Amino acid sequence: MKHMLGSLVAAAMAATFSMAAHAEEFRLGLITPPPHIWTKAAGAFGAELAEKSGGAHSVSVFPSRQLGNEAEMLQQLQTGALDMAFMTVAEVSNRVPNLGAFYAPYLANDIAHAGRILRSDAAKSLLEPLPGQVGVVGVGYGMAGLRQIVSRGQVNSAEDLKGLKLRITPFTPILDFYNALGAAPTPMPLPAVYDALANGQVDAIDMDAELIWALKYYEHADTIVRSNHMMFPMVGLVSGRVWASLSAEDRAMIGELMARHVDSTIDSYLEKEAGWLEQISGTGKTYVEVDASFFGDAIEQWNAIWATKAESLDVLRETAANTQ
Ligand code: BEZ
Repeated sequence: MKHMLGSLVAAAMAATFSMAAHAEEFRLGLITPPPHIWTKAAGAFGAELAEKSGGAHSVSVFPSRQLGNEAEMLQQLQTGALDMAFMTVAEVSNRVPNLGAFYAPYLANDIAHAGRILRSDAAKSLLEPLPGQVGVVGVGYGMAGLRQIVSRGQVNSAEDLKGLKLRITPFTPILDFYNALGAAPTPMPLPAVYDALANGQVDAIDMDAELIWALKYYEHADTIVRSNHMMFPMVGLVSGRVWASLSAEDRAMIGELMARHVDSTIDSYLEKEAGWLEQISGTGKTYVEVDASFFGDAIEQWNAIWATKAESLDVLRETAANTQ
């Protein structure tokens, strides 16, 4: 009897330890503020993972750059100090130039087309080298709409952008674009943008419609140039080290759920982008709608630079042509 009890206790302890070994409290970092679509999607992912894993897994979401900027979070993912992130493809493209092809000006005709490109097999295949190249697993794409320009002064032509201190997200494709335009691109992380525009530290910003509207950047501007000049993809990332420590079942569950929730952000922008732009156009600020011709030969210059930097450019262009 004593022997049987001992065996039962040992079995119970073994079961407890094996469950504990599989239960994880994941930390997910992002730079967007709590009400942002990406942050809400991260929260929804965590809630569904907790539910689907029967409470074994949980996700603590750290928004607003609480864990550092994106470059720092990418390093943390590499070491396994951070488990997961919803990150701009812009940041990852600083390490993997092939991802820079997404920023080919006017690769997408409109936001729905951008969504189709991001959902293509060609786009997904660009995530495959990430574990080997950066030590992270990319499970799928999200987005933050298309890029626009907000300026403190009047902008009626690309000439008016020349010499402007123009805030950009810190990544090379957009730097090359504004350099080609003769502006003075000023890399600046998202949380610093509002004050920089308000106090005139920058003359203009490169931004998406959601944040121009929600964070009221338009209040400190004279002109909104609705240019739709680039898409702005996001990627759901898991630390390669953390991924390697997961069971096959957990990888499948986490990969599928995270991919679905980052993808849901594409639907959110498809649904809401037009409404934000309409509200911005109704603010009384000068609202200029332009297309590729506005940017003159800057687009050709960009194409020439990136033809050698990103071999994926051709395949993404082909995909764009096939998903019109
Ligand atoms: C930006 O750098 O402009 C940005 C970053 C994340 C989400 C949206 C915008």
